[in-house]
Amino acid sequence: METKLLRIDEKNIDESLVREAGDVIRAGGLVAFPTETVYGLGGDALNARSSEKIYRAKGRPSDNPLIVHIADMEALPAIVREIPESAARLAECFWPGPLTMILYKSDIVPRETTGGLDTVAVRMPVHPVARELIRAAGGYVAAPSANRSGRPSPTLAKYVIEDLDGRIDLIVDGGDVEIGLESTIVDLTAARPVILRPGYITRRMLEEVLGDVAEDSTMMRDDSGQAPKAPGMKYRHYAPRGELTIVDGTEESVIEYINSRIALHRSENKKTGVIGTDASVARYHADVCRSAGDRRDEDTIARELYRILREFDDENVEVIYAESFDTDGIGQAIMNRLLKAAGHRVIHIG
Ligand code: TXA
Ligand code: MG
Repeated sequence: METKLLRIDEKNIDESLVREAGDVIRAGGLVAFPTETVYGLGGDALNARSSEKIYRAKGRPSDNPLIVHIADMEALPAIVREIPESAARLAECFWPGPLTMILYKSDIVPRETTGGLDTVAVRMPVHPVARELIRAAGGYVAAPSANRSGRPSPTLAKYVIEDLDGRIDLIVDGGDVEIGLESTIVDLTAARPVILRPGYITRRMLEEVLGDVAEDSTMMRDDSGQAPKAPGMKYRHYAPRGELTIVDGTEESVIEYINSRIALHRSENKKTGVIGTDASVARYHADVCRSAGDRRDEDTIARELYRILREFDDENVEVIYAESFDTDGIGQAIMNRLLKAAGHRVIHIG
């Protein structure tokens, strides 16, 4: 299949191009498009065949449910059994935006879209191109991140091309994404809300609206023993091809340890990489050293992380060491993704 590329400027949206992309989804095709978190791979959420195509294009296991994207609050009642008070309040505060809510689904949502579950994940993105596209596509767009299964989510159209060229109908290039990590997922089907995946909307922000909010116990720990509640979180994820290890400790001890490991891998003729920060990156001796930004600027680190992980692949790096990041604010989402990318390989020193 030939994949067409359309460029749509979010500040000057060409309606005819949006219509063209919407028509592809209405006809059962697949369109990758920008959101404020990461690029999504969109299909008609109410068409079982479209959802099957999404799984095939991504190489994703079909028990891993998709998020249904809507553009307007009026679209919500048709796809859920009921709208709990908690969902209405969160929508008021955080939609449109990087928050996904799990609710009981209505009959019009096919089980192919929800991975066989009787719940559905719903999100209303804020990115103007995404919203216009959802409306043009009929109102309900199922969209996982637009990467091949297991790879870091794409934060630029060029990474979508890298992963999905020839496998989908259309890619809408809308430039850089803003956040760089996937949406926060909160399950509202039980009495107590539970965060299944951390993101830009933090636990503290949710608690300000809802009171007590729990976290899925597998979120920050090795989940080999227990099944996470978001089926997708059990798979190896966001992973570069090289073996990634996180090193946690004081700045000096971390730099010293990582450099000693790099010297060892050098002697084995392995290509090495490091993820450091602005303050530390110049002190590493690896073949490929990348700064994720200023340690205090979590927003930048979040936006850079997946690009850096993909660059190690482009450079054929075989062994990677990363500094550890605070688990405060969006730092928790950064650390959650980094831990998954590292298969929970963490070394504590100093
Ligand atoms: O920011 C985002 O959420 C991006 C953009 C494109 O919107 N989308 C995204 O989708 O990250 P995806 O498919 O890569 O991740 C969706 C996650 C998976 O871990 C999946 O298991 C979980 O949401 N999920 C979806 N429906 C669910 C449900 N009914 N119950 C529990 N978890 C669910
Ligand atoms: Mg994904």
